[in-house]
Amino acid sequence: MYELIKETAEWLKQRMYNHPETAIVLGTGLGELANDITGKQEIPYAEIPNFPVSTVEGHNGKLIFGQLGKKDIVAMQGRFHYYEGYSMEQVTFPIRVFKAIGIKTVFLSNAAGGMHEDFEIGDLMIISDHINRFPEHPLRGKNNNELGPRFPDMSDAYSRRLREKAVQIAAELDIKVHQGVYVGTSGPTYETPSEYKYFKMIGGNAVGMSTVPEVIVARHAGMEVFAISVITDLGLEGKIKEVTHEEVQQAALAAQPRMTQIMRELINRS
Ligand code: HPA
Repeated sequence: MYELIKETAEWLKQRMYNHPETAIVLGTGLGELANDITGKQEIPYAEIPNFPVSTVEGHNGKLIFGQLGKKDIVAMQGRFHYYEGYSMEQVTFPIRVFKAIGIKTVFLSNAAGGMHEDFEIGDLMIISDHINRFPEHPLRGKNNNELGPRFPDMSDAYSRRLREKAVQIAAELDIKVHQGVYVGTSGPTYETPSEYKYFKMIGGNAVGMSTVPEVIVARHAGMEVFAISVITDLGLEGKIKEVTHEEVQQAALAAQPRMTQIMRELINRS
């Protein structure tokens, strides 16, 4: 796999107009941030050697190189979910390629079900930590020391520095944010009431189907990470309703302007 990463990174390096140190995974709630990118160079995943191709509706897979404010960035429009059938290696491949092209900080977003009494649909939660409940670990297998250590530390997976900045920015913009623990699960089912209860009991504040594998690989590679969730439904006893993908997308859309503002400003100041 190391060879594939290097091959893809070399291919990109020969084509990139700029040399960003910041990568953004445009997950749910952040799609519109792509509109703020200037001097865009778009490279469809289908053209990038060794890249998986994304399938989920509403995601058209491409890398976008350009500037966000004054900052050079690369954005991933369309990510790879484990529930789609991709292997953990495929899900996290772009993150490894980011490292290989010189990225130092990765920003991610996602949609999640809230499991804290104070949370309301449409709220934003800065991820302070995670619990990995995926059935497979992205670092399982022989470790390549060129990519990172065998036993990576996870004590500060979500950069305290960036979280503090984001909280300050949210206060300045008068946007309500929470901080909390994200439980990453495979999906594609939303949780049963008992599963929400269980994830809450083990210390989760929100649950979703992405982010954790990418963050593990980013930290393995020594990159700094910031991630934020939009709470699209509530997994709290008494508040649980039927969850549909459409409702999740609707809630995410409503939260999008707030999430975008925070991210834009945070990336500018990072
Ligand atoms: N569970 C898992 N993933 C999700 C949820 C949820 O309730 N909401 C949005 N993504």
